Amino acid sequence: MRVLLTGGAGYIGSHTLLKLLQDGIDVLALDNFSNSSPEVLRRVQKLTNSSFATHVGDYRAPDVLDEVFEKFRPDAVIHFAGLKAVGESNEKPLTYYAQNVSGSINLLDCMQRHGCQNIVFSSSATVYGEAQYLPYDEDHPLNPTNPYGRTKYFIEEIIRDWIASRPHASAVLLRYFNPVGADESGNIGEDPRAIPNNLLPYISQVAVGRLKELSIFGNNYETRDGTGERDYIHIDDLAAAHLAAVKYAHENHGCEAINVGTGTGITVLEMVKAFEEASGREIPFKIAERRQGDVARSFAEVSKAQRLLDWTAKRDLTDICRTAWNWQSKNPSGFEH
Ligand code: NAD
Ligand code: UD1
Repeated sequence: MRVLLTGGAGYIGSHTLLKLLQDGIDVLALDNFSNSSPEVLRRVQKLTNSSFATHVGDYRAPDVLDEVFEKFRPDAVIHFAGLKAVGESNEKPLTYYAQNVSGSINLLDCMQRHGCQNIVFSSSATVYGEAQYLPYDEDHPLNPTNPYGRTKYFIEEIIRDWIASRPHASAVLLRYFNPVGADESGNIGEDPRAIPNNLLPYISQVAVGRLKELSIFGNNYETRDGTGERDYIHIDDLAAAHLAAVKYAHENHGCEAINVGTGTGITVLEMVKAFEEASGREIPFKIAERRQGDVARSFAEVSKAQRLLDWTAKRDLTDICRTAWNWQSKNPSGFEH
């Protein structure tokens, strides 16, 4: 199978790239490095001791995509590329719709013109919005609360309509919960360009001394200890879910949305404690105001992934903190040094 990864140098893309190469799949990574570094691909190459195709360019440009499709003739696409910052999407909604939604339409159009029938799409649990019940299953109503989340929702709907018009095509919409952690090697990992928005990269940067202290956004939620509860999924498990999903898409027709999580919630305070144990460092924190748009609890119902993809998460909180710390302590400044 030949698989094109848009955004293949990003955090989730690079770990999936590694997983696919280790499985012997023929891969092309397309990226414009707008939120990643070419060093990522060099490191994946070293880790696998294999060469793979790469293309530097913007996936939204039809000539770039046409060139890639003509040269590589993919059987399937895993579509990671896009913008992902919730706060920024409130400030620049049109940029988010242009980059994420229009870009995805161009990609589907190119797939259609080149006879490529299979897509795995990076969706997000953010499509569910405020929980009407927990755990979120795939039939939970969709009600995203910000432009970023709505781009994911619209793209899901567009893919659904596209698949409905093509009897032999197949799509898997993977709704990620909270991807965290790093490859065991510590050679690739999450490397946010600005001050991290997400909890685990923020904690890692406090532990390594790049940031002074963590602000915990609220300790008066209705959870075990008052802090927000999330379903953290190890990046290696998430990469394995992509491998299973692309194989599933290759062998089946139709469109399926599938949660990718562990089914278990971890609070902010539990995460801080686990990271302190893994790193042997103290994580100074203060309690701050709630962050706008945050929900108290979010965790996945995961039986559909097990049923359709024969996939379940294998890694636990200790693995998450250990691998995140291994990556951060080996690469205190990320990929730049
Ligand atoms: P990332 O920013 O690390 O990776 C995205 C990659 O796409 C980057 O390498 C970037 O350079 C590239 N890219 C962006 N625009 C491009 C363009 N126009 N042309 C070519 N390349 C382009 O993000 P990530 O965390 O790896 O997320 C991957 C996908 O998963 C995104 O679509 C994101 O919305 C989704 N997602 C992420 C999370 C998360 O917590 N990380 C959660 C849910 C969903
Ligand atoms: C956030 C996004 C969500 C996106 C997801 C990607 C918002 C409102 N939501 O979700 O749309 O899909 O990232 O992974 O931005 N926390 C702190 N201090 C921090 C950072 C986070 O206390 O400095 C808390 C949060 O309040 C939350 C938990 O840690 O309770 C996890 O936060 P985060 O990693 O940002 O993920 P989400 O809020 O789930």
